[in-house]
Amino acid sequence: MSRSQISDFTIFILSYLLIIYLTRAENLSQCPTIQEMIPCSCTVKKNGLDVICEFTDFKHISRAMDSLKKRQNSIIFYLKLRHNDLPKLQGFVFLGLNIHHLTIHNSSLAVIEETSLSSIGKSLTQLDISQNSLASVPSVALKNLHHLLILNINHNKITIIHKKAFEGLDTLEILTVYENKLSMIEFDAFKGIDKRKLKRLNIGGNDLTSIPTSPLMTLDMLKKLEVQENRISVIIENDFEGLTNLDSLVLAHNKIQKVPARAFARMTQLNSLELEGNMINFIDSDAFIGLEELKWSFGLQEDHSRSKITAK
Ligand SMILES: *[C@@H]1O[C@H](CO)[C@@H](O)[C@H](O)[C@H]1NC(C)=O
Ligand SMILES: *[C@@H]1O[C@H](CO)[C@@H](O)[C@H](O)[C@H]1NC(C)=O
Repeated sequence: MSRSQISDFTIFILSYLLIIYLTRAENLSQCPTIQEMIPCSCTVKKNGLDVICEFTDFKHISRAMDSLKKRQNSIIFYLKLRHNDLPKLQGFVFLGLNIHHLTIHNSSLAVIEETSLSSIGKSLTQLDISQNSLASVPSVALKNLHHLLILNINHNKITIIHKKAFEGLDTLEILTVYENKLSMIEFDAFKGIDKRKLKRLNIGGNDLTSIPTSPLMTLDMLKKLEVQENRISVIIENDFEGLTNLDSLVLAHNKIQKVPARAFARMTQLNSLELEGNMINFIDSDAFIGLEELKWSFGLQEDHSRSKITAK
């Protein structure tokens, strides 16, 4: 091959790659027209479309989704539905769409039909359904979300986490149920989540009166557990049995009075323990056994008034 043949060939290959790149970019970046999307908005971002619908209702959202469905292969990186009147998310509303992060926030959401979410199970990695009117975990709608990493159900009206509530969420890493009305977490509540994946659990801001030891028992890879702002008055020796890999435990703003012997003994990896805002009047001299590094590096035995202990 002569030098000019090589460069022709190179140019040919480069043009070919450029065309593929542009076709892809075009597919990624297609927003429907403003008219088709109204009252929602659509903008093109690096990783896909960013779609926002606020202060509207199901009918208008559904119409905007239909416009998006005509742009096949578009990646919707963010779909944010906020401050809407959306008591029920009807089935198939997102069918055919490729949605990665879905937020339905402050929208009076009370019912999520199964097929509304299962149809986007292959793409959804983050789901935020915070500040709505959900009275229970929408387990049936969640069960096909096999790529979900983060689930946020904060600020709803959930009173009980029933058994196998999150079954099927086998990739979940972060689960947060902060500020609901939880007074009960059933024995097998977390069964069906892949316990090797779940790293963070927030059940703070609820009405729990004791540590839900048995449901937590299987979460042996959990790194951070937040149980702050509940009504827990007693902790006992085996409350945290099973949480052998926990790095951070937040028990602040409960009603704990006594820290008994060996309360945290199983959690040999613990680096951070927050106990402020309790009513602690007695700490057993063996309370922090197993946490030698925490104890000695902060002189805890000498200073019982220190309520927040953080290493590192
Ligand atoms: C772009 O989308 C069209 C259909 O809208 C499809 O036929 C084509 O394969 C897509 N191209 C790429 C590179 O994804
Ligand atoms: C929630 O949405 C309503 C409209 O449905 C709005 O009036 C209100 O300000 C929103 N609340 C918050 C805290 O954003």
